[in-house]
Amino acid sequence: MGRVAGKKVFITGGAQGLGACFGRMLAEEGAKVALTDINYQGAEQTAAAINEKHPGAAIALHHDVTSREDWEQTLAEAARAMDGISVLINNAGIGTAGNIETETDEGWRRTHEIDLDSIFIGTQLAMPYLKDNQPGSIINISSVAGMVADGMMLAYNSAKAAVMHMSKSVALHCARSGYDIRCNSVHPVFTRTPIVDPLIELGGGGAEGEKKLVRQIPLRRLGEPEDVGYCIVYLASDESRFVTASEFKIDGGITAQ
Ligand SMILES: NC(=O)c1ccc[n+]([C@@H]2O[C@H](COP(=O)([O-])OP(=O)(O)OC[C@H]3O[C@@H](n4cnc5c(N)ncnc54)[C@H](O)[C@@H]3O)[C@@H](O)[C@H]2O)c1
Repeated sequence: MGRVAGKKVFITGGAQGLGACFGRMLAEEGAKVALTDINYQGAEQTAAAINEKHPGAAIALHHDVTSREDWEQTLAEAARAMDGISVLINNAGIGTAGNIETETDEGWRRTHEIDLDSIFIGTQLAMPYLKDNQPGSIINISSVAGMVADGMMLAYNSAKAAVMHMSKSVALHCARSGYDIRCNSVHPVFTRTPIVDPLIELGGGGAEGEKKLVRQIPLRRLGEPEDVGYCIVYLASDESRFVTASEFKIDGGITAQ
């Protein structure tokens, strides 16, 4: 039996990067996964690769996380396909740069819409499914940028910090309501996915650009998606049954400095 056998996991941003890795690792441990993404083709390719190894384990759904209608539809479709939803991973997100003098109204709004508001809408709409499939787990992907600030990450800092605190509020509501549904946030440092490419470019690109990012990390390397994935498998599984309202830093030590 896998560590998450029987779990029915809904993953946003599942086409590539961290979300795709979570899908692969959870399927490896026995879960069913619904990979949703605005990039449907990418989600479909990831699901197909998972199904090659674990037939019937994955489905792909087109989903814009900023749309309430999309959430309603994809949750219903995923629940039909997996016979319920017991784990929600709010992973879809964008990285944006801008300081208090350069950030635009549109940039501020878009960052919060995708990285924060989507989690409010999606978690609210997923609650009935999670209540019907207890024990449940909600895993919100924040960032170390939700804990430590950077002058050039104004909107991203704001959205990711809010994700951490919102996760605690959700966790407390569930606990006080007597639901066996936990909610935690996960805070990766720079991890090797397409989202860090612009940061590597900013540092001069290639090995040189990567070196500049890595210099800030005590363990002296970028995170790999699997480094975060191990934490996700734990939080999705019943091994973490007493863990709620917590934040998990997968950061090579960066926030200790
Ligand atoms: N990789 C890192 O260094 C890092 C560090 C800290 C936090 N994070 C967070 O991890 C999460 C995943 O990022 P990643 O590194 O895999 O990046 P990524 O860019 O590789 O993947 C993000 C995915 O989200 C999808 N997406 C974007 N907007 C969407 C929308 N409106 N609706 C649905 N899907 C949408 C994209 O299509 C993409 O597949 C994000 O929330 C990101 O902020 C990443």
